[in-house]
Amino acid sequence: MKSVIGMGNALTDILINLKNDEILDTFKLPRGSMNLVDSELQRQIDASVADAPHTLSLGGSASNTIRALARMGASTGYIGKVGRDETGDFFERTLNELQIAPTVFRGDEPSGRCVSLVSPDGERTMCTYLGAALEMRHTELTPEIFDGYEYFYIEGYLVQDHELISNAVRIAKERGLQVALDLASFNIVEENLGFLHDLVDRHVDILFANEQEAAAFTGEKNPLEALDKIARKCSIAVVKVGTRGAYVKYRGRVDHIGIMGNARRVDSTGAGDFYAAGFLFGLCRGLSMEQCGTIGSIAAGKVIEVVGTTFDEKVWEEIRRMVGDVETGNYIL
Ligand SMILES: Nc1ncnc2c1ncn2[C@@H]1O[C@H](COP(=O)(O)OP(=O)(O)OP(=O)(O)O)[C@@H](O)[C@H]1O
Ligand SMILES: [Mg+2]
Repeated sequence: MKSVIGMGNALTDILINLKNDEILDTFKLPRGSMNLVDSELQRQIDASVADAPHTLSLGGSASNTIRALARMGASTGYIGKVGRDETGDFFERTLNELQIAPTVFRGDEPSGRCVSLVSPDGERTMCTYLGAALEMRHTELTPEIFDGYEYFYIEGYLVQDHELISNAVRIAKERGLQVALDLASFNIVEENLGFLHDLVDRHVDILFANEQEAAAFTGEKNPLEALDKIARKCSIAVVKVGTRGAYVKYRGRVDHIGIMGNARRVDSTGAGDFYAAGFLFGLCRGLSMEQCGTIGSIAAGKVIEVVGTTFDEKVWEEIRRMVGDVETGNYIL
């Protein structure tokens, strides 16, 4: 079976259950928002919730995708940068436990982390501190890192460093890997339009975009027209349209793949990340576009049923069983 190495902002997610919303008022954090914070604000927030119960998990868009791929049974690797601290140790240890081959660099800043403050009613307010993740440089990447993999997956959130992405993708292509990119967010697309077009034209084989990102990238509001435009630039174009599923265009043919209809949405965090994981898993197994999309929908449908992006082994067993059924043609959406 083929294998995937991912690269992204290496973040550790810290989920904190709040007794009340006082801290949100104190730090003027709008409920439900995502805030980029500096180390000082992060430290103050940490100090004021030090007594609240919390859990740690591997976070970051690409690392979510790689983690899901590993849990489905793919062989995987991950490239990222953390600090020389306990959070960084946690990140690297967790990759090892999941049998994800780590290429984890250590920087001078503290490890990047995303603190999710969960209000008593379930609303989540996020504070993201990128820290050492921002220190990763293209000069740290060597061709050997990519040896033995067939696909290279990158998250759009990395666009802060154009040189890093360009060089990583160039090395991966030289080593014969296919490159997959998720556009991450429409504002990222708008702010880096020229760079992203050039990258996709030259190096990207598989592009994942949601409806808004596809519109920002192509200027076409209609997802099918956006899909067409994207498909002229790369080999496999995937445009996700939320509860309406996704469109895939490959070799001139368009497939529409629906959603896992019985999913009970609790929190959509990770839907896109897990969709990419399922899709890439199908590609690794040499399956059809329809089967790849179906596995994407299954993985996404499962992650939206939980708060956060982790669930227990029982659910992974169920996913692996469903994926097996997709492969044998016994599961069709
Ligand atoms: N309510 C839902 N029920 C079932 N499946 C869903 C639902 N919402 C989304 N999905 C699945 O998740 C996939 C990806 O969702 P979406 O189109 O929102 O991507 P995204 O915006 O990239 O997600 P994210 O916000 O996680 O980055 C969809 O194509 C679909 O298969
Ligand atoms: Mg997304």
